[in-house]
Amino acid sequence: MQAAPETEQLEEAAPRESFAAFLADDASVQQVRQCIAEMGLPPSCVHRGDISTAINYLEKVRSPRALMVDIAGAEPALTKIQHLADVCEPGVSVVAVGDRNDVGLYRDLLGVGISDYIVKPLPAYLIHKAMNGLLGLAEVANTPLSHKLGKIITVVGTRGGVGASTLATNLAWGLANRKHRRVALVDLDLKYGACGLMLGVKSDSGLREALERPVRVDELFVRRAMIPCGERLFLLACQEKVNDPIVVDPLALSQLVSILRKEFHFVVLDAARENSTLLAQALELASTRIVVVDQTTLSVRDMLGMREAYRLGQDDSRNMMVLNRFGESGKAGIAAKEMEEVVGLRFDSIVPFDAKSVVFAANAGVPLLNRRGPAAKAIEQLAEKLGGHAPLSRKRWWQIFRK
Ligand SMILES: Nc1ncnc2c1ncn2[C@@H]1O[C@H](COP(=O)(O)OP(=O)(O)OP(=O)(O)O)[C@@H](O)[C@H]1O
Ligand SMILES: [Mg+2]
Repeated sequence: MQAAPETEQLEEAAPRESFAAFLADDASVQQVRQCIAEMGLPPSCVHRGDISTAINYLEKVRSPRALMVDIAGAEPALTKIQHLADVCEPGVSVVAVGDRNDVGLYRDLLGVGISDYIVKPLPAYLIHKAMNGLLGLAEVANTPLSHKLGKIITVVGTRGGVGASTLATNLAWGLANRKHRRVALVDLDLKYGACGLMLGVKSDSGLREALERPVRVDELFVRRAMIPCGERLFLLACQEKVNDPIVVDPLALSQLVSILRKEFHFVVLDAARENSTLLAQALELASTRIVVVDQTTLSVRDMLGMREAYRLGQDDSRNMMVLNRFGESGKAGIAAKEMEEVVGLRFDSIVPFDAKSVVFAANAGVPLLNRRGPAAKAIEQLAEKLGGHAPLSRKRWWQIFRK
């Protein structure tokens, strides 16, 4: 079991550049390098490439605060930018560069959250103007892209042991390692939490302090508290004594989450049922709520109770229902179809009972998705669904950055 590294290590492990550019021709590369040199930025942050190169690059490293991308020849440009928006971390400002002097395209680009659009050959004064905006040296329009916030996924079980923590932990791991997103996993089960054990790390991150004394919580506190579980997955968890009274400040969770969603593509909350205030808040803050059930009468009863108390019906598009441990009791379990009828909900995912892989992985503290098996496959598909690139839809696509 590995302990959390020292703060210095943590911060070094995840540096965030201030600027990167991806330009497809030598003349543009030279021109931008010259302009940024005058602003004290190194030439190495200007890369030869286009928007696809930028997308590949951003899938592997942390997003810079500001980005310049060449969209010349990218067809369709708006789809490519949507893909770029998916891989960008929250809070990135983007300037596009292209070869079409087209007011319609310019308007579309601003509409989808790009800060500015410059036509090649790039005039130095326009690069300077755009760079000043990107680096916060001048006012820029309020663009949806730079205000993007991470999505909050709250996972809750209808009763003990249905597998909510297994789902939360492995979805978080899948989003981080299969979808290359930066993910914060918060284990709100402060005494009996299982996420750390499943990931093979010590659950000792200062989460209790964050929830009891939110006045002490800021970006630095959170960055120091997070336990790295690989390159893109970070855990906030604690393991308090079972008889220790914990008094959670009612404002703490929303404050913590608002900090996390500025830094992470996804914040996954493993919501324990024991603390009903925390549970209600975790569900209220969620962009997506995943309710986990199993094929038992108790689970059906509690699903009905929770649906009533927390509005967990599928009339709210945020709600998803997952049937876990499917097939565990053979014919003795309530049939999936019958469950759907009784609770009036459809299952968004069915995860088979798979003791061999799931229990082995949990006991060994290794990610389930690294193993083959039907449960791993189903959870991976769910992570794919949650982290995928949404196709261009009828609604304005930048709304994907909203809850
Ligand atoms: N699909 C599955 N197949 C087999 N075992 C599973 C499956 N899902 C979870 N488990 C096992 O069930 C047990 C309970 O899982 P987990 O801790 O995720 O449930 P939980 O709903 O979070 O429970 P709690 O209410 O205690 O927080 C664990 O031992 C886990 O490995
Ligand atoms: Mg749990």
